[in-house]
Amino acid sequence: MLNLNSTPTNMTTQPPQDRKIFFLFPLALISLLLLGTLRILLDNLKNNQIQILRQNKFLKVPINVSENEIIEENCNVFEGKWVWDNVTYPLYKEETCPYLVKQVTCQRNGRPDSFYQNWRWQPHGCNLPRFNPLKMLEMLRDKRIMFIGDSIQRGMFESMVCLVQSVIADFDHSIERVPPRKIFRIEEFNASIEYYWAPFMVESISDHATNHTVMKRLVKLDSVEKHRKLWEGVDVLVFESYVWWMHKPFINATYGSTENVQEYNVTTAYKLALETWGRWIESNINPQRQKVFFATMSPTHLWNWEWKGGIDGNCFNETQPIEGPYWGTEKMVTLQFLVKGEVNY
Ligand SMILES: *[C@@H]1O[C@H](CO)[C@@H](O)[C@H](O)[C@H]1NC(C)=O
Ligand SMILES: *[C@@H]1O[C@H](CO)[C@@H](O)[C@H](O)[C@H]1NC(C)=O
Ligand SMILES: *[C@@H]1O[C@H](CO)[C@@H](O)[C@H](O)[C@H]1NC(C)=O
Ligand SMILES: *[C@@H]1O[C@H](CO)[C@@H](O)[C@H](O)[C@H]1NC(C)=O
Ligand SMILES: *[C@@H]1O[C@H](CO)[C@@H](O)[C@H](O)[C@H]1NC(C)=O
Ligand SMILES: *[C@@H]1O[C@H](CO)[C@@H](O)[C@H](O)[C@H]1NC(C)=O
Ligand SMILES: *[C@@H]1O[C@H](CO)[C@@H](O)[C@H](O)[C@H]1NC(C)=O
Repeated sequence: MLNLNSTPTNMTTQPPQDRKIFFLFPLALISLLLLGTLRILLDNLKNNQIQILRQNKFLKVPINVSENEIIEENCNVFEGKWVWDNVTYPLYKEETCPYLVKQVTCQRNGRPDSFYQNWRWQPHGCNLPRFNPLKMLEMLRDKRIMFIGDSIQRGMFESMVCLVQSVIADFDHSIERVPPRKIFRIEEFNASIEYYWAPFMVESISDHATNHTVMKRLVKLDSVEKHRKLWEGVDVLVFESYVWWMHKPFINATYGSTENVQEYNVTTAYKLALETWGRWIESNINPQRQKVFFATMSPTHLWNWEWKGGIDGNCFNETQPIEGPYWGTEKMVTLQFLVKGEVNY
């Protein structure tokens, strides 16, 4: 079911040179959001039977919905490039969205430029319609979508919330924190967009949303028992897990007896966890009614030498994406931004 061959094995254990707090590059969040939601959109847009409310008293801005918002048949949305677009982008501004955690509020954190907000994904062979929040809400009517994973997934969740909340009046939506979940509800549509903290997808000692160990990790490779109750029945499940595994070449884990803690090669551990998760999916998901998405590897870009060569510092003051095909460094992903940053749940 899943191709696990892309897991890098060529990792080193070099300790990070610099203990500063790093933030995930916003572009990564935006790109992940796009890739994650595109498939949802595509599946739904294909049947072209979406009824959109043209007038709605709850809307802040009237939105024109036109027929050319349908993605072309056979459009390969996965091959393309990022183009800078200050005409139709950004899709929302940081200051208009109250739901972002401090970690990703670049402007409030003092970032001087806003250039990074204007990157738009452009497939090679076709055009994508501009993201339409109303259309998304209409698709989510009477439904729940849940983003499950780590802080990258929280970025996806927050981006989705910010994208749709931009068109709805203030009294119409609310966010509720019930760890490990965050639930954003839009009453008019009886829809909810949810986030579920589970950095390994399977159970681990890092599952508490606000008080979890970061350096000390212990994963229960054979169980999703603690999580499954809250995943059951959700209409659209978007899973993501990768970065938390790639902390060291080995990870402490159990399989079967919880007394028997062993150090597993992360490649093996990740594969076993995905198999556990896959078994749950196969016996619990009704493909007629539910959809499941999965995102794995995220590129890292934490060192300035990746841009233009130089000393091994951090990515401070880098404002342009790295050009050309680029698969990222093979260095270990470190979670410094979580270690020293405040817990952003
Ligand atoms: C929507 O369409 C109307 C009529 O075609 C036009 O006057 C208006 O400017 C459009 N609004 C937006 C937000 O594009
Ligand atoms: C977009 O960027 C170009 C080039 O920087 C600039 O000339 C133009 O005024 C900008 N347009 C808008 C709408 O900001
Ligand atoms: C609201 O949505 C939930 C699913 O999220 C559904 O079970 C329920 O029937 C919906 N309520 C109404 C009034 O349609
Ligand atoms: C956080 O978790 C640790 C270990 O489980 C526990 O000892 C500590 O009391 C918890 N702290 C808070 C604030 O809940
Ligand atoms: C596994 O746990 C032991 C005991 O806590 C610890 O000494 C060891 O460093 C851990 N291994 C890894 C890969 O973290
Ligand atoms: C982990 O397993 C993979 C696949 O079997 C192997 O290629 C890799 O060298 C192993 N890593 C370590 C650190 O032993
Ligand atoms: C940041 O980058 C700009 C443009 O490259 C440069 O002019 C400036 O000196 C840099 N600032 C710092 C503190 O390195």
